[in-house]
Amino acid sequence: MTPEVVDVRILVTGGTGQLGTAVVARLAGEDVRVFSRRRAPGYARGDLRTGRGLDTALAGTDVVVHCATDFRYEVELARRLVEAARWARTGHLVYVSIVGVDRVPLGYYQAKHAAETVIAESGLPYTILRATQFHALVRTLFAGASRLPVVPVPRWRFQPVDVRDVAGRLAGLALADPAGRVADFGGPEVIEAAELARLVGAASGRRRRIVPLWLPGATSRAYAAGGHLAPEHADGKITFAEYLAEQADAGALGYRRR
Ligand SMILES: NC(=O)c1ccc[n+]([C@@H]2O[C@H](COP(=O)([O-])OP(=O)(O)OC[C@H]3O[C@@H](n4cnc5c(N)ncnc54)[C@H](OP(=O)(O)O)[C@@H]3O)[C@@H](O)[C@H]2O)c1
Repeated sequence: MTPEVVDVRILVTGGTGQLGTAVVARLAGEDVRVFSRRRAPGYARGDLRTGRGLDTALAGTDVVVHCATDFRYEVELARRLVEAARWARTGHLVYVSIVGVDRVPLGYYQAKHAAETVIAESGLPYTILRATQFHALVRTLFAGASRLPVVPVPRWRFQPVDVRDVAGRLAGLALADPAGRVADFGGPEVIEAAELARLVGAASGRRRRIVPLWLPGATSRAYAAGGHLAPEHADGKITFAEYLAEQADAGALGYRRR
């Protein structure tokens, strides 16, 4: 007798965002749907803040990959989702968080940490993956390097990771058994902010004077101490330089390499 193949139904919240889009692409071939506030063919439409559309979207769903985020309402979104998922008896909730949410005293990090707790204490089978900063965010942080004549940068390091690498890991976790909090996921290299600024400037065809600075405050100290890094989990493959080269070739940096 051939074993019965059971389709796993997966719902990706934030499936229209930068990470969620990559997760949906990685899950191509699976029974996967996007949950979004937008109206589009094939989307399960709803709003995690109000709970609108959640019950319908979760009916018959086995796994939710929660990539939706709102820095003002991160915990509320998680609470709504957990309530509805409990009601729907969802078999697995996968949440993506940030490395160091319990070490860096930034409001958004604290909200992510609180949302992790909501999920971990929900009674639902869950998996939580913390990732380091995405390439696009790091590029935005150092965008000044392509505009300003002198670029001040903090004396911090970053471990930029590509959303496609994180998405690959999340897709694997979504198709596996719930695992609780799993090992952090970091980019392939830990790089000084000054070097990142230099790379961003160079990718835009510009050479700028970069001035490393010490910044005061508890958040700065936590970043300087590497609270947001996971050097022991340098699992991503795509480097920041490779990402910038792709962006430049796509004309996204306002400059094309010759
Ligand atoms: N950026 C980083 O460096 C980084 C690093 C580590 C972890 N993360 C985490 O990765 C996750 C994804 O980040 P991202 O940068 O890919 O996000 P993003 O591109 O900003 O996308 C946000 C998504 O959230 C959805 N959303 C927001 N409010 C919603 C609501 N009320 N109801 C339903 N959907 C809502 C949006 O969907 P619609 O507009 O279509 O409704 C959108 O798809 C976040 O949890 C973030 O904390 C990010």
